[in-house]
Amino acid sequence: MELINATAFVTGANRGLGREIATQLLGRGAKVYAGVRDPAALDLPGAVPVQLDVTDAASVQRAAEVANDATLVVNNAGIYTRERFLDGDTDLIHREMEVNYFGPLAVIRSFTPVIEANGGGAFLNILSVVSWFHPVDFGPYAAAKAASWALSNATREELAPRGIAVSAVHVGFLDTEMVAHLEGIPKLSPGDVARTALDGLAKGENEILVDDFTRSIKASLS
Ligand SMILES: NC(=O)c1ccc[n+]([C@@H]2O[C@H](COP(=O)([O-])OP(=O)(O)OC[C@H]3O[C@@H](n4cnc5c(N)ncnc54)[C@H](OP(=O)(O)O)[C@@H]3O)[C@@H](O)[C@H]2O)c1
Repeated sequence: MELINATAFVTGANRGLGREIATQLLGRGAKVYAGVRDPAALDLPGAVPVQLDVTDAASVQRAAEVANDATLVVNNAGIYTRERFLDGDTDLIHREMEVNYFGPLAVIRSFTPVIEANGGGAFLNILSVVSWFHPVDFGPYAAAKAASWALSNATREELAPRGIAVSAVHVGFLDTEMVAHLEGIPKLSPGDVARTALDGLAKGENEILVDDFTRSIKASLS
């Protein structure tokens, strides 16, 4: 996909990886809508702030009506609650699925007619190595990312006839607030990950495996 003339909508663009992706898309010549929960607090020069909570279907639909020239949507917003399956808080486990799986599904459903009407384009879904690797402390989060892997694969087939590609980014730990509590482990720079993700998207890759660990886990599946 050509990014220079793209109009992108990035969810969770105010911080972390989403902010890097939005910044680099602007740098590559795209128009960028920043989908954020609190537009008044956004500090991202050049981007157009749009209110968005991915768990609120009406907010997602309104965002799709505002960003009606979008050709690329980056499903980046996500949470990691640190809950486990057996002793974790049930409401938080549900919330993890709402934000990380039902959120992207709502975004895909609302933005598909928009991208199609604009002549086609792509969804870029930010997933994780834990789509395929399920350590105890990441159980519910991993379940949501595994579900979003299935979502990415099935919608890729469903959307191809409508001229819309679906790329999924899988990656290990990033140096963002999400895992700031995990010390003493290597973490990737969000800037490097954003670059690899956008390069993969530009090349039309369906699945973008960012780091060696993620590649080795994926290779071990078969
Ligand atoms: N960090 C990692 O190690 C890692 C590894 C692999 C994949 N990922 C994935 O990468 C993506 C970005 O994560 P990150 O590391 O950049 O995390 P982050 O720094 O914690 O940022 C999360 C972003 O998601 C937004 N968000 C959360 N809930 C939302 C909701 N209901 N509606 C709209 N926006 C919402 C946040 O907005 P607020 O500021 O309003 O909370 C924030 O912009 C996520 O999908 C994550 O699962 C992260």
